[in-house]
Amino acid sequence: MISELVHRLRSDLDSARFTVTTLTALWGDEADAALHRNERVPALRALARREETGVDASATLARLFVLGLPVGPDELNAALPTLGVAGATELGLVASDGADVRPLLDLRPYSFVDAAGAGSWWIVSDLGELALGRPLGEEHVLGVGGASMTLSGLMMQTPVGSVLDLGTGCGIQAMHAARHAVSVVATDISERALVLARINAELNGISNIEFRHGDLFEPVRGERFDQIVSNPPFVITPRMEGVPAYEYRDGGMEGDALVEAVIRGAAAHLHPGGVAQLLGNWEYRVGQDAFRRVGGWVDGTGLDAWIIERDVQDPAQYAETWIRDGGTRSGTPEFERLYTAWLDDFAARRVTSVGFGYITLRMPLAGPPTLRRLERLHGSLGSNETGLGVHLAAALAGHDWQAVRSNEELGLAQLTVAPDVTEERHYWPGAEHPTAMVLRQGGGFGRTVRMDTGLSALVGASDGDLSVAAVVGAIAQLLDADYLELLDELLPRVRALVEDGFLLPPH
Ligand SMILES: C[S@@+](CC[C@H](N)C(=O)[O-])C[C@H]1O[C@@H](n2cnc3c(N)ncnc32)[C@H](O)[C@@H]1O
Repeated sequence: MISELVHRLRSDLDSARFTVTTLTALWGDEADAALHRNERVPALRALARREETGVDASATLARLFVLGLPVGPDELNAALPTLGVAGATELGLVASDGADVRPLLDLRPYSFVDAAGAGSWWIVSDLGELALGRPLGEEHVLGVGGASMTLSGLMMQTPVGSVLDLGTGCGIQAMHAARHAVSVVATDISERALVLARINAELNGISNIEFRHGDLFEPVRGERFDQIVSNPPFVITPRMEGVPAYEYRDGGMEGDALVEAVIRGAAAHLHPGGVAQLLGNWEYRVGQDAFRRVGGWVDGTGLDAWIIERDVQDPAQYAETWIRDGGTRSGTPEFERLYTAWLDDFAARRVTSVGFGYITLRMPLAGPPTLRRLERLHGSLGSNETGLGVHLAAALAGHDWQAVRSNEELGLAQLTVAPDVTEERHYWPGAEHPTAMVLRQGGGFGRTVRMDTGLSALVGASDGDLSVAAVVGAIAQLLDADYLELLDELLPRVRALVEDGFLLPPH
């Protein structure tokens, strides 16, 4: 019966053209941006202006499911002609008192672009604080948030057999993975999350996801996957009476122990060559660099690891961020009580700041790990139309390509400069020669690399025709430098440029 109702809902949403584009056209970019800040007044004003000329189905659905306001039963019956108020009630989407129908769930369109092209879905999740008018409940099932989109953008999209999405919530990562995997297992400790995730998969016609209930890796004991993705409940929360522990963000462990558990657990669930991609927080403690701790979590797992820190917050900023995220407003006594609890908790572990970032782990195809990279990239990213995951996969391939080549073999390779790379030259006014030369990556992490004349000439000549050694030979002649010394100096830099995607190996 549920399937039949979901089927009718899908058909109604389709007929109503309930899409991201329709909603933006309904209320405009400014209201869209305000909604991202959790403010609905501009959208409401825009809807009221449009309603003067009549209400259409998408406006009714937006008012009810996106803005969280009641609508009349006749209006909803008109907006969902095959499901009707009765079907929507049975599905748990709404409740009606006869005069008004109010939302019980959030339902909104979501659009994306990945390597397979543009896509559009509808996502059901719990109502946010805007619709509830109060802080979230501890069993709240999250919709598609900023962190969800960060991880889905990071997801490598290389076709694979099996993917595990650990902590699936509304199912968004599993649904993305279902586009490049034969089959996906999506797990969650929350039964309610799994109910909503199942509805979302069905609503969007996705049939290759299996949903399982349980704690961390327990539902997949003894199984291995080609890819694991997880936006785990990594938020550091004081374990104290009276501090809400939100299931969607709080894994119930002290400090950053949950992230450590997911990293350590991944090793037993990856096939050789399999990759795990996670988001995480890590604590900096007095006298202890967080990267030493995070590196320690990977030690002994046998995994390649590439950890990228994107941001750091001090304990006060961190506490404010996550107390507000739970819907508690600053300036209230409750906010200050929670703030104190957070700072006490951090002080107990002598935490000085908290890092946030991306974790990529990989089970080597054979032999010991060859990649251990921990870096801080706090700046803005390059432009990655189909997601950063495409760049991550290419960077791993670049690493593998150069790691198995001796210097002699590297010298024989014909490399090509990547199409998103540009060179900047800076001159003192009137000077003939540049004082600084910088290589800039347009995509990926938008990295920059300072260059000297030799490296600049080498990159400039890397058009896939000449070998590295031949180019270095010509440069040595031009600069009147010793060929072998120059080669020795440039080869490590070439390796780094291949690993970072500035130079592409031959096909
Ligand atoms: C931050 S949400 C991520 C949801 C979704 N994957 C996304 O990217 O938006 C974390 C999810 O992990 C689930 N979770 C919390 N503790 C868990 C545990 N011990 N084992 C498995 N899942 C857990 C929560 O219920 C929640 O759905």
